[in-house]
Amino acid sequence: MRRPGFVFGAATASYQIEGAAHEDGRVPSIWDTFSHTPGKTHQGDSGDVACDHYHRYAQDVALLADLGFDAYRFSIAWPRVMDADGRINERGVDFYKRLLDQLDAHGISAWATLYHWDLPQHLQDRGGWLNRDTACRFADYAEQMGRLFKGRMAGWMTLNEPYCSAYIGHTEGRHAPGLTDARYGVEAMHHLLLGHGLGTSALRANDDAPVGLVANVCQVTPASESQADLVATERAAAASNHWPLDPLFLGRYPAPLRELWPQAGAPIRDGDMAAIGVPLDFVGINYYFRQVIASDGGHGFVVQPLPGVERTQMGWEVFPDGLRDLLLEFKQRYPQLPPVYITENGMASDDAVEGGRVHDAQRARYFNSHLAAVDEAMRRGVDVRGYFAWSLMDNFEWSYGYEKRFGLVHVDYATQQRTPKDSALAFKQFLSQRRAGA
Ligand code: NOJ
Repeated sequence: MRRPGFVFGAATASYQIEGAAHEDGRVPSIWDTFSHTPGKTHQGDSGDVACDHYHRYAQDVALLADLGFDAYRFSIAWPRVMDADGRINERGVDFYKRLLDQLDAHGISAWATLYHWDLPQHLQDRGGWLNRDTACRFADYAEQMGRLFKGRMAGWMTLNEPYCSAYIGHTEGRHAPGLTDARYGVEAMHHLLLGHGLGTSALRANDDAPVGLVANVCQVTPASESQADLVATERAAAASNHWPLDPLFLGRYPAPLRELWPQAGAPIRDGDMAAIGVPLDFVGINYYFRQVIASDGGHGFVVQPLPGVERTQMGWEVFPDGLRDLLLEFKQRYPQLPPVYITENGMASDDAVEGGRVHDAQRARYFNSHLAAVDEAMRRGVDVRGYFAWSLMDNFEWSYGYEKRFGLVHVDYATQQRTPKDSALAFKQFLSQRRAGA
């Protein structure tokens, strides 16, 4: 990562930071509906106001620049830029133009995600990702964004973490739209990936910036050497890591999924796998933790938390070597693997401002150890081109609401005061030394 051209950025997502849920013609999304349904989020928190970034974007971009980042990964809110009839909402588009102007003014490159989970509610009312037509609607949206923002993005990301949209949203029900059936998860994943494939081609029709998909991955380790635990771990790897990546780079779904969810099947039509497998310019990897896996005695698996290991506010195990090992595994498994960007990596902690400072030493260590892991993977031949910290600032952590703080910058939600945490200052120093060639 000392190579010239390696990109260092911070990441956010529309619903988690923007607020202004009812402004300038934005239509409701499934996360508005979900977060306003009693019992779905921590203390009923919603993204109505969030970090008020819609009004404070200039200040937030200035912060990003002050910390020394040269790139910003954000997401475009589909419900902000298109109305229920599929027409462009100019006022919503203007917000992103203003944001891009600010980024340009500070020399920060823009990396836009098209879908970070805020599906317009009117599409959900017609079946959402269970309806194949949503993939076509997504491609229309992608086509329009490529046209409107032609030449302005350093990179496009179609979907963020389709595993979470599909599985957590449609099988576990902890995310919008809150459905709970393994069959729904498998169907939703197929339509999401189809949307990605069609959307990639649609973007390229208008813009030549690199296009990729962002997948979350997690390191899985068997709890024991028993055959049952080894098989369970293969199933966990198939679900957590290979489910979206195999179709992209091997042209098929991983076989263990059929054992895991025997009642479920992807609604594949002729030509779908070719559309999904459209060659990509890069793949985005989001990495946070490891899970130790044991057999559930049947055809599934259970997570068996290790005692005594370092954890974050989320309860997630800190395990930097997992990032290195996954990058090496993907290089082996996927001969067609394009260049990789780490599009998210970071941790939550229970941070508070004390005398104008936030002492988040654990986060600074987390970044250091994970950057070292990326460095090692690169030295061992993985083509990693950039790293985005999650997140620029504390924000709406989905069903966990505002309690979990992932930011480099602390947000006081009562005053909207931003305070760079100690980890942000350490990152700033790292970036400035790197620029100086130290
Ligand atoms: C992944 C998601 O993309 C992001 O929205 C979320 O806040 C972080 N992980 C942390 O859970």
